[in-house]
Amino acid sequence: MERPAVRCRGLTKHYGEGEASVPALQGVDLDVRPGELLMLVGPSGCGKTTLVSIITTVLDQDGGECEVLGHDMRVMGERERARLRNEAIGIVFQSFHLLPALSALDNVAVPLLLAHVPRAEAETRARRALDSVGLGTRRDALPARLSGGESQRVAIARALVREPKLLVCDEPTSNLDASTGHTVMEMLRDVAKASDRALLVVTHDSRIFDFADRIARMEDGRVVEVTDNMQPGAAA
Ligand SMILES: Nc1ncnc2c1ncn2[C@@H]1O[C@H](COP(=O)(O)OP(=O)(O)OP(=O)(O)O)[C@@H](O)[C@H]1O
Ligand SMILES: [Mg+2]
Repeated sequence: MERPAVRCRGLTKHYGEGEASVPALQGVDLDVRPGELLMLVGPSGCGKTTLVSIITTVLDQDGGECEVLGHDMRVMGERERARLRNEAIGIVFQSFHLLPALSALDNVAVPLLLAHVPRAEAETRARRALDSVGLGTRRDALPARLSGGESQRVAIARALVREPKLLVCDEPTSNLDASTGHTVMEMLRDVAKASDRALLVVTHDSRIFDFADRIARMEDGRVVEVTDNMQPGAAA
């Protein structure tokens, strides 16, 4: 069996100290495989954001194991983690986070320019990424001129422009209407399949559950159930 892109075992995390200490993760076991779209669901406060923050290397774990793309988080320094995040992990947020003064194309090119890719090459690659999300004709538009769905597709193109092995999306459709959310999820699914990329999608949005290969349900800081979604109706 192929090595998982993400492997968590007994992962723990708490916030605060002493009396005020809040246990956020209480022993999470989870694998995300290359080429799969895994959805992470569960009630508010169960630890989803905490878990994806550790996986995307923004937050330190307390105990247990967290291996991301073959790297053991426990032995990585701050600088190595930042490099892993920038080079190999794409992140998409609920609220797009586009830079308002930059065109769609320039927004997508930003991660490349920050990585010192020459401007001409950055633009070529950004153009290709925008084409891949169906926005080739909107490349000069400023974010204020884009619809919610278009904005989210620009954000996805930006997350994909460095061809990350792992793409993590935090509530990518909750600001979108049903049909736009559907379009965005179709695109995300194709993107995972085409490249053996692992996709981890946090969502409350039951309208998109059908797009998952597997659904991991969290409760009280643990993954309590993983459902295989390959059979039609399995996640009804
Ligand atoms: N910065 C913080 N400081 C203290 N406690 C926190 C912090 N962030 C989260 N928590 C607590 O940790 C627990 C898990 O929070 P987390 O944000 O991971 O939940 P979530 O599943 O993402 O919830 P939601 O669906 O509402 O986004 C909650 O009890 C929350 O109150
Ligand atoms: Mg959250």
